[in-house]
Amino acid sequence: MKPAVRCWGVIPAAGLGTRMEASRPKQYLEIGGRSLLQHSLDALLAITAVEMVVVALGAEETPPAWLDDSRVRLTAGGARRADSVLAALRVLQEIAHEEDWVLVHDAARPCLLPADGERLVSRVLGSGVGALLAEPVVDTVKRVDASGRVLETLDRSQLWRAQTPQMFRLGELAAALENALRSGIAITDEASAMEQAGHPVAVVQGASRNLKVTVPQDLALAAFYLGEPITG
Ligand code: C5P
Repeated sequence: MKPAVRCWGVIPAAGLGTRMEASRPKQYLEIGGRSLLQHSLDALLAITAVEMVVVALGAEETPPAWLDDSRVRLTAGGARRADSVLAALRVLQEIAHEEDWVLVHDAARPCLLPADGERLVSRVLGSGVGALLAEPVVDTVKRVDASGRVLETLDRSQLWRAQTPQMFRLGELAAALENALRSGIAITDEASAMEQAGHPVAVVQGASRNLKVTVPQDLALAAFYLGEPITG
């Protein structure tokens, strides 16, 4: 009998977060006494279908004690986000099936609502098509050249801002990321590797509170959404 398909999580947390201009990687900045990574991990683990999460840490990092959890595995990340995700997928390939689903979630998105994650999972399991949380673009968007001159105005009715989690089958995602890395094309999310590989990818609308903490002012916004103060 074919085993039931299972869902796993991956958090790439090996980035330096230099745009944050902080003394440590942004995933270790704290809101309400818990790091951004801890908030993001808890939100991912709160999605009912997710059995276990592999966290990719910086190769030189000593793992914090709170990561010692039976539902968490650790691995060393790589130079680019896709290297970190691939390292975590390798860990999953030891214990999971190629057809299992993986939800990849940024360490720097601490405000994910578990209900949005649940909607993503039910949409993907119901359709069999991989998908990502995303948000429709509300601004008018310009394409601009290096000198600041506007080249064109894009049709915003077709534009969505990609968020995470992004949910794909383990085997297909690992192969797509490997191919993308080999081809040398810069990829900043899992969906773009899947698109390049020719797989269908769908969007599921997520809340705008699921921001990626990137620049200093984002931390205050994340603290506002979480209803807790910045603590470090
Ligand atoms: O830099 P950016 O904000 O796009 O990073 C998104 C996520 O990817 C963060 O959680 C970051 O820690 C992770 N990352 C990683 N390994 C890298 C670069 C980024 O795990 N080499």
